[in-house]
Amino acid sequence: MAIPNPPTAPAQTPGASQSSLPRHDVADLRLAAEGKRRIEWAEREMPVLRLIRERFERERPLAGLRLAACLHVTTETANLARTLKAGGAEVVLCASNPLSTQDDTAAALVVEYGISTYARHGADRDTYYRHLNAAADFRPHMTMDDGCDLVTLIHQERRDQLSEIIAGTEETTTGVIRLKAMAADGALGYPVVAVNEALTKHLFDNRYGTGQSTLDGIMRATNLLIAGRHVVVAGYGWCGRGVAMRARGAGAIVTVTEVDPLKALEAVMDGFDVRPMSTAAEIGEVFITVTGDKHVLRAEHFRRMKNGAIVCNSGHFDVEIDIPALRKMSQKVIKDVRPLVTEFRISRNKSIHLLADGRLVNLSAATGHPASVMDMSFATQALAAEWIVKKGRKLSVAVHDVPKSIEDQVAKLKLQAMGVNIDRLSREQALYLESSGEGT
Ligand SMILES: NC(=O)c1ccc[n+]([C@@H]2O[C@H](COP(=O)([O-])OP(=O)(O)OC[C@H]3O[C@@H](n4cnc5c(N)ncnc54)[C@H](O)[C@@H]3O)[C@@H](O)[C@H]2O)c1
Repeated sequence: MAIPNPPTAPAQTPGASQSSLPRHDVADLRLAAEGKRRIEWAEREMPVLRLIRERFERERPLAGLRLAACLHVTTETANLARTLKAGGAEVVLCASNPLSTQDDTAAALVVEYGISTYARHGADRDTYYRHLNAAADFRPHMTMDDGCDLVTLIHQERRDQLSEIIAGTEETTTGVIRLKAMAADGALGYPVVAVNEALTKHLFDNRYGTGQSTLDGIMRATNLLIAGRHVVVAGYGWCGRGVAMRARGAGAIVTVTEVDPLKALEAVMDGFDVRPMSTAAEIGEVFITVTGDKHVLRAEHFRRMKNGAIVCNSGHFDVEIDIPALRKMSQKVIKDVRPLVTEFRISRNKSIHLLADGRLVNLSAATGHPASVMDMSFATQALAAEWIVKKGRKLSVAVHDVPKSIEDQVAKLKLQAMGVNIDRLSREQALYLESSGEGT
């Protein structure tokens, strides 16, 4: 791989300090020790990433690479950043969502692990984009995104950097949809590997990770008993299926809404009540959007909802619930009736409660996916980064799938770490499966 010349020193970002530390803008460096404890706790559940880190330390496959990552700044991400650094990369991390940033993790990344980090919990829009720009100032050779914001910034405002970037990776569904649209329009400026499309990512992360952590976020924010509640899940994709499964497991009566006939049929066959949102709105008590789509819950639905209905979102962007419409139809808006719960008083007898301002409830009100699940997603990210470096400029400018060899390696290591053995094909079986000659 031909790595371009070192960049000129990036402009100092407000908030940066202590010359011995890497450049950063985080809330409070004194939280570093607590962050380190939690990062190490997460690491215990991330054996695959740890094995990769140990190999990276020996082999340094990312030496000389400048890598800018825009990801949720959580303990699991910290372990990915450590792995990339162990591989020899110079890593800068910024937040992909202002509400998911864990300030202690951000502090530990800077102080304990020497990784440049730009993330503050609850950062406003200006700070969020200042942080993205600070990451881009590192003039990366590789980007790592969760939701495509860094790719978008570079394509829209920093086009001079496009030619310096070998490739990127994308972690989530919404980002991959954007990238594919860009590729179809001929607007994509460098190759991107769609980590989200790997089974080792979306099968486990989207389904089991989002499923469990979304319920966790709702319970933490509301202290609600889920058993016996009527929960409506909008979208029955990878995430929605996990959310619906876990809600049912906690004793909820679950209704699913969909726009895709196949997905709707799958939900019916899985034993869920399926109906349009117009009627689901009348019976639901908790509404969870997880579609990647816009205004899935809107005025016509709020009007039909019961008093006390709880609405929240676990899709990537905060557009799934039409919050401006909810605000417009409310007589009064009361912030923080509980932390992260906003009451929209529509009339004397009717309120609707919005969780986490309509942002990802599992990351805002809980701590996101369990480390064990992120182990596989981030192992796939780390191996995808290594694969990109090996391919160098040979990758075409397109959205690429993760190679099957990486998927197999991650699954194998995870099973090994879990102490699960599986059968092997005999030579005879392998030949049989490959041959077209043998039949009845
Ligand atoms: N909360 C998290 O931690 C987390 C994790 C992974 C992905 N995501 C995000 O969650 C969203 C969904 O991801 P996915 O992997 O399940 O995607 P997916 O494409 O597998 O599923 C989305 C489903 O929503 C359905 N849908 C679209 N518009 C709808 C509407 N108006 N009403 C009802 N259903 C509708 C689609 O038909 C599809 O079946 C994306 O935004 C993704 O980025 C969040």
